[in-house]
Amino acid sequence: MMTEVIVKKAERAALVVGAAGGIGSATVVALAERYQQVIAVSRQPRPPAALADLANLCWLTAAAEEGAIAEAARAVADHCESLPLARVVLATGTLHGDGYRPEKSLRELDAATLGHLYQVNAVLPLLWLAALEPLLRRSDGATVAVLSARVGSIADNRLGGWYGYRASKAALNMLLRSAAVELGRRAPQVALLAFHPGTTDTALSKPFQARVPEGRLFSPASVAIALLERMDAAQADGELHFVDYAGESIPW
Ligand SMILES: NC(=O)c1ccc[n+]([C@@H]2O[C@H](COP(=O)([O-])OP(=O)(O)OC[C@H]3O[C@@H](n4cnc5c(N)ncnc54)[C@H](OP(=O)(O)O)[C@@H]3O)[C@@H](O)[C@H]2O)c1
Repeated sequence: MMTEVIVKKAERAALVVGAAGGIGSATVVALAERYQQVIAVSRQPRPPAALADLANLCWLTAAAEEGAIAEAARAVADHCESLPLARVVLATGTLHGDGYRPEKSLRELDAATLGHLYQVNAVLPLLWLAALEPLLRRSDGATVAVLSARVGSIADNRLGGWYGYRASKAALNMLLRSAAVELGRRAPQVALLAFHPGTTDTALSKPFQARVPEGRLFSPASVAIALLERMDAAQADGELHFVDYAGESIPW
């Protein structure tokens, strides 16, 4: 005899920004099983095929610039009038793209690329956090996770290289640390995480997967579950917690 297990969804909403990305879309799927509504924000006009059948998904399209972010945050707030926001995942980021890849030496540094990496990896998530702050302040308890990376740890940098990506993630962590202090005063019920997913099988890591040791390349689905577990365990204590998929703290 088959036993059907019915999991009651929390009467809360969750938000994912960067919802068309590898980790972002897997996180949407995982959240959709647990929360009554998932609001997904992306630059893409439509959800990827894997998300198309989710009945409790609300897809918002927003360009990656200040005005569009503010407008999208207002739309999120409208959606959350009836369902309080409990989880926010900012899953955007870039490592390589048209005409740029991680630098191996000082000779490869390029000012425009450095600026682009700072803009996407550090500035954009902070613009989102700032735009969502009024909504977070009104929440009755929420956890925000921002996708960072272990290579943004200054203490952990023994290999060098990857100047722009490392520096932009270190900048992200510093910006988040300041935000944690402020939220601790203005929205003490909000927990904040800088999350390192581990090397995950997405477009971002694709060119760099060859040397990943056996068993250390994670599926986006498993990372999404780990992320939600870390978020469930997060304390709202005015601190920024820089943690990996296993819940281990990462040194600054
Ligand atoms: N994969 C890994 O091994 C790994 C390891 C450590 C840390 N991370 C971090 O995890 C996060 C998610 O990465 P992922 O692996 O899921 O990568 P991904 O599949 O490439 O997704 C990244 C998403 O970020 C958004 N994005 C990319 N370029 C952008 C730009 N120029 N402007 C605005 N948004 C942009 C896009 O979201 P939309 O298309 O929805 O707009 C994109 O789908 C990133 O912050 C990354 O640094 C990943």
